[in-house]
Amino acid sequence: MKIIIINGPNLNLLGKREPEVYGAQTFEEYFTKLQFKFKDVELEYFQSNIEGEIISKIQETGFSYDGIVLNAAAYTHTSVGIGDAVKAVETPVVEVHISNTHQREEFRHVSYISAAAKGVILGFGLKSYDLAIQSFIKD
Ligand code: DQA
Repeated sequence: MKIIIINGPNLNLLGKREPEVYGAQTFEEYFTKLQFKFKDVELEYFQSNIEGEIISKIQETGFSYDGIVLNAAAYTHTSVGIGDAVKAVETPVVEVHISNTHQREEFRHVSYISAAAKGVILGFGLKSYDLAIQSFIKD
């Protein structure tokens, strides 16, 4: 089983960025733990601050991988293009957010991804990614 985690803008700053919201761990540290936990899953990680690169990565993986875990970060609330890419591909996409965006500013309540996603997991801190990976694994 091949799953890619795609992280959007500013998520390269995890650990440093608003730790009261996003925690003190870097994503690289957390990703190592995920790889250890899900040994039978071929896990890949991609991060970009650039909208078009995220769209290209969704297109590139979206016809061959078994799952995409997507945290489009701020683009979640603005990007018709990323939403369209999620609609266009065959691989199921699970939308994740570290924070509970519904408890935050109103502009974070809108998602251009959710309608095309297989499901949405948010508000569990970095564990949201773990739960998203689990959602692809058959019981
Ligand atoms: C986020 C929530 C977004 O509103 C925000 O722009 C992010 C991170 C989250 O994981 O909680 O960058 O996607």
